[in-house]
Amino acid sequence: MQFVEAHGVRIPQIGLGTMTLKGDICVQAVKTAIQLGYRHIDTAAFYGNEMENGEGLRASGVKREDVLICTKVRENNLLPENFTKSLDQSLANLQLPYVDLLLIHWNNKDIPFKISIGALCQAKKDGKAKHVGVANFTTAMLDAAWAVTSEPLVCNQIEVHPFINQDKVLAASKKHGMAVVAYVPIARGKVPGAEALERIGKTHGKSAAQVSLRYLVQLGLCAIPRTANPAHLKENLDVFDFKLSDAEMAELKKLNATNMRVVSPPHAPVWDTP
Ligand SMILES: NC(=O)c1ccc[n+]([C@@H]2O[C@H](COP(=O)([O-])OP(=O)(O)OC[C@H]3O[C@@H](n4cnc5c(N)ncnc54)[C@H](OP(=O)(O)O)[C@@H]3O)[C@@H](O)[C@H]2O)c1
Repeated sequence: MQFVEAHGVRIPQIGLGTMTLKGDICVQAVKTAIQLGYRHIDTAAFYGNEMENGEGLRASGVKREDVLICTKVRENNLLPENFTKSLDQSLANLQLPYVDLLLIHWNNKDIPFKISIGALCQAKKDGKAKHVGVANFTTAMLDAAWAVTSEPLVCNQIEVHPFINQDKVLAASKKHGMAVVAYVPIARGKVPGAEALERIGKTHGKSAAQVSLRYLVQLGLCAIPRTANPAHLKENLDVFDFKLSDAEMAELKKLNATNMRVVSPPHAPVWDTP
């Protein structure tokens, strides 16, 4: 496993995304993933599966301290009192005294950053989160959040895959020394079957999904592909034994022009334009 280091945290470059995984499917996916070598698990209050994530972690037999657990607080819970309630519920669900990484899942434009980021930082001061960060923050939001934060914001979790141009927000995250965690890293299933990725994969004896993940790893990002399929879990971790050439990286970069954003709910911010 390789790691991205940022503001004192070491984030495993491949993690398991668990959105939509429910019940025993989620428990088994988390357990199997950790037993296969995953050391980074991504959940959220919104996913309704923190209990199953905690159960999978315990069932894995791997020491809790060896796994980075990330959860998130929703945009409707960013006022201090609600924030604390949401986080306490997450910790109760996970049956953990702290998470390794706590993120604001989406900003709430009606709540000043001083208040929402203040609540986030308080969670770290209270020992309920080892590190704090954000998700879905644009370049302007990153600058505004950094202007008021009392704790380092270690990461920005955003949509990144070969079919979207995120150059501006990647540069802004880097400017602040933040790790970028790429969500929807295989474009929610649109990577398998894509001609260029399949072709490049063939030359390395790898799948299109592995090419997409390797592209993100070589860009220096973390990626959290989601699957409950044991073969896919194994495949998605197996991206550290080959290297894409400069020409292959450039060809994948060109696909950014497709500009296919998979995730943009009504509460999304005004995204940075390419
Ligand atoms: N912060 C945010 O706002 C935010 C937003 C969206 C997502 N996320 C996080 O990012 C994670 C990943 O995003 P996502 O789940 O939407 O999309 P994704 O990981 O890009 O795609 C998931 C899809 O890809 C398939 N897949 C996975 N591995 C594969 C492989 N090796 N070969 C072929 N198909 C494969 C899965 O099917 P199978 O089950 O058949 O393998 C599933 O249908 C989420 O689970 C969540 O943790 C965060």
